[in-house]
Amino acid sequence: MYAQAPENEFARDVREGLARDGQKTLSCRYLYDPVGSALFDAITCLAEYGLTRADARLVECHAAEIIARIPGHILLAELGSGSGAKTRPIMLRLGERLGRRRKVIYYPIDVSGAALERCARELASLGTIVPLETDYLEGLERVAEQRSPGETLLVLFLGSTIGNFEPEEAADFLAAVRSRLSPGDALLLGTDLVKPAAQMLLAYDDPAGVTAAFNLNLLGRINRELDGDFDLRQFEHVARYDGAAQRIEMHLRSRSDQVVTIGKAALVIEFAAGETIWTESSHKFRPEQIVALACAAGFRLERQWIDCEWPFAESLLRAQ
Ligand code: AVJ
Repeated sequence: MYAQAPENEFARDVREGLARDGQKTLSCRYLYDPVGSALFDAITCLAEYGLTRADARLVECHAAEIIARIPGHILLAELGSGSGAKTRPIMLRLGERLGRRRKVIYYPIDVSGAALERCARELASLGTIVPLETDYLEGLERVAEQRSPGETLLVLFLGSTIGNFEPEEAADFLAAVRSRLSPGDALLLGTDLVKPAAQMLLAYDDPAGVTAAFNLNLLGRINRELDGDFDLRQFEHVARYDGAAQRIEMHLRSRSDQVVTIGKAALVIEFAAGETIWTESSHKFRPEQIVALACAAGFRLERQWIDCEWPFAESLLRAQ
């Protein structure tokens, strides 16, 4: 007897999402393979997608005040750091405060090894980078273990990544973050705000089709990694805004009745013309909703900054 190779997580999640009655789904965490990550980087350059620039602007403009509001020796950690580009101004300010006595320590936490390598390379001159290739909470636990008495954690969770969670998951996640922190530790949370529906829809359905390519690449990834035979031209990118739920949804809509086979997930799936696969939710917030969410998780609001060009909020929260 020999043990069967354990099926990979991607195959299992794809089967769970597609082999079901009712709305088919795929998790947005699988959008970021090398092609998807490159397409996301391109999205952040689009005029229609102001989110990333607003986030970076707020961090840049207020880095000094953010640091000034947290006394003592700061250990910096970031959940989903990517290349860490937005973090540079914070590291610079921390470095200024420390002077020559000590080096800034930065723990970028990301599941992408490639992103962490880039991050470590690009920020190397600004301090000691300790990349943690793991999920957010596990990474945060490891950072918390390494702190010495008297050190304060500043955790960054930027880019409105929290908007990908369902509201209940977001609340649980913030509580889980809080439980790994000590009173006085800080969380800088970036969240995209509700804005006119037309503006939001354009940001998720840009005329050049970059977001469409980003979404469709998920099917390409299934073809490449799981031996699928999706015909990408038989699916169409759709962005919708659900006002009651305050979220943009991305879907892939089947252009025809069709059958798709995914070898490594042992799946044969039928699609009716017009049927969709729901691939992402991006929740949008009102400023006071962020405060309520944070307070329920055991934080208090230290300060909130809002970008005036693209409604986006940076909230500095302190663990109670
Ligand atoms: C990286 C999750 C913040 O939801 O706006 C961009 C991802 N999806 N365009 C977002 C995304 C479509 C993005 N986040």
